[in-house]
Amino acid sequence: MPRIVIKLSGSYINPVQPPSAIESFARAIKEVLSMGFQAGVVVGGGPTARSYISSARALGASQALCDHLGILSSRMNAFLLISSLGEAAYPVPPTSIEEALRAAASEKVVVMGGLQPGQSTNAVAAVLAELISAETLINVTTVDGVYSEDPKKVPTAKLYKKLSYSQFAEILSTRREEAGKYDLFDTVALNVVSRSKILVHIISGEPPENIIRVLRGEDIGTLISPT
Ligand code: UTP
Repeated sequence: MPRIVIKLSGSYINPVQPPSAIESFARAIKEVLSMGFQAGVVVGGGPTARSYISSARALGASQALCDHLGILSSRMNAFLLISSLGEAAYPVPPTSIEEALRAAASEKVVVMGGLQPGQSTNAVAAVLAELISAETLINVTTVDGVYSEDPKKVPTAKLYKKLSYSQFAEILSTRREEAGKYDLFDTVALNVVSRSKILVHIISGEPPENIIRVLRGEDIGTLISPT
């Protein structure tokens, strides 16, 4: 059975979203299962994480504590997706590698949030992909791929259709990593996908059916691969 990991930005799965928006991601995930894939899902912290982190930072909290609040937020968001997936999902987001392995053995959809400070949920998604031997990681984000510059600020920014791990590393190298502000991908995530040659698709979650389109082989978003 082919295996994939889907990382959903916390911008899509959070309590401010209408329940129907979260349901449409749950539907897309169920369709992935009906296509014959075994899937693991990692949910980000989104605005919940950012609001806790900015409040804690202003109160003098350390980076590690800010990251921890992001982790807790991502787990709460994971519970929202689990609620929508119902019986198809393992009922709790694993909080360690051992719990993730136990959950994966259930053959239900494992839905996780964060694990430890110093990384983003993309690193969790990369590690989960290694644990379940997934060949592909789909990073469902709020932009439709990797651009040469921020497309929201530079309208002429170019969308890359394909990048090697080293080209992607070069693009990410200038960006700072701190609680609540990890970019499209973080250093840990990149190291893990490149050591295990996991293919990464970066796509937009609008609409959620983009997840199905990419699995059907449609040329959307950016593909990051060994060469
Ligand atoms: P993310 O930044 O991964 O959430 O996690 P996100 O919502 O998916 O981000 P976008 O929308 O794609 O940009 C939220 C925060 O939780 C902490 C980090 O501070 C991160 O910014 N975190 C998450 C960790 O410290 N460790 C983890 O394993 C995961």
